[in-house]
Amino acid sequence: MNDPRKLDDVKYKENLKKKILKLKKEKDAVIIVHNYQRDEIQDIADISGDSLALSQAAVRADAKVIVFCGVHFMAESASILNPDKIVLLPVKEAGCPMADMVSVEGLRQKKKEHPEAAVVCYVNTTAAIKAESDICCTSSNAVQIVKSLKDYKEVIFIPDKNLGRYVQQNVPDKKIILWEGFCPTHVRVSNDIVLEAKKLHPEAEILSHPECNPDVLSISDGIFSTGGMFKYVKTAKAKSFIIVTELGMLYGLKKANPGKNFYIPTDRLICPTMKLTTLGWVLYSLESMEHEVKITGEIKEKAYKVLERMLKVSGEKSGAAISGV
Ligand code: 13P
Ligand code: SF4
Repeated sequence: MNDPRKLDDVKYKENLKKKILKLKKEKDAVIIVHNYQRDEIQDIADISGDSLALSQAAVRADAKVIVFCGVHFMAESASILNPDKIVLLPVKEAGCPMADMVSVEGLRQKKKEHPEAAVVCYVNTTAAIKAESDICCTSSNAVQIVKSLKDYKEVIFIPDKNLGRYVQQNVPDKKIILWEGFCPTHVRVSNDIVLEAKKLHPEAEILSHPECNPDVLSISDGIFSTGGMFKYVKTAKAKSFIIVTELGMLYGLKKANPGKNFYIPTDRLICPTMKLTTLGWVLYSLESMEHEVKITGEIKEKAYKVLERMLKVSGEKSGAAISGV
C-alpha cells in the first residue's frame, strides 16, 4: 500500500485513480461525468457529456451503482430515470445556484397568473420543480422542445432568463414568459471581455453557451450546449475557437481535437460547485456508498413523466462520449 504522504501530486492522483477503478468494478458502478468537471475526473469517466447526453446515458446505464460527477439536479434526474439503481453524488454540497432560483410557491403563483401557458423547465431545476412542470428541456434541445408544444401559444420558461430569451428569438410565434433566474458563472462574462479575446485571436470563432448574457450571444459565431460545442468543433473548418462557457470544457476539447486551438476569454468562467468533486471524494463515495440521491413518491412519478416527455421529443441520439475506462 502506497503511503499518500510520500507521493507527489501526479503519483497521488494516479494512486487514487487506481483505487477508484478497482472499487468501481467490485461495486458494479459506472462513473458519469459532466463536461465541466475537473480534468482528472474527466479522465476516470465511463461516460461524459452534456446534461441531455447524461440523462440519456443514465437510462441505458448497465450497472448497479451510478456515481454522478456533476451537480445535485443531475443526480436527481439520474435517480428519477433509474429508480432501481443507487445514485451517488460524491459531494453532497455540489448544487446549482440557478436551480435554487425558483420555488414551488413562486412557480404555482406564476401558473395562476398565466393559466393558458405550458411550463417548460430547464433541466437545471429541482425534482420538486420538475414535478410542477409540463416538460423539461436542456440547452441542447430547448428550442426543439418549445416548438413541439403545438397546442400552446404561451410558455412559462424556468428558471434561466438568458436561455429563455434565446428560445424566444428562435420561436417567435410563441410568447415566452421569462423567469428572473440566471447562471452566476456565465453572467460574469460581458461582450467587452469576449471582444478583447477576439482581438488577441482574430482568427478564432466565438462559441457561446446560451446561459451567457444576450450581448455575448449577439457577437457569437455559434450558440451551443456543451455537447453541441464538441460536435461542432469536430467538423468545423476553423482551427481556433474562443469558448464562452465553463473552463472545464477546454480540457476535453483539447484532448478530442489535438490539432485545434481553444481559448477561454476569462478565468472568471469557473463554476465553484462543479469543481467540488475531486478524486478523493469519488473514492470516498465508492467506499462509503455516500451520498445517495433518491427521489421517491409523487414527486418522482410526476418528474419522471416530465423528463420522459423530453427524452421522447429529443429522440435517442446521444451526444455522450463513452470512454471505456
Ligand atoms: P449543458 O447541458 O450544456 O452541458 O449545460 C449544463 C450546465 O449546467 C450549463 O451551465
Ligand atoms: Fe449551475 Fe451555472 Fe454551474 Fe451550470 S455552470 S451548474 S448553471 S451554476
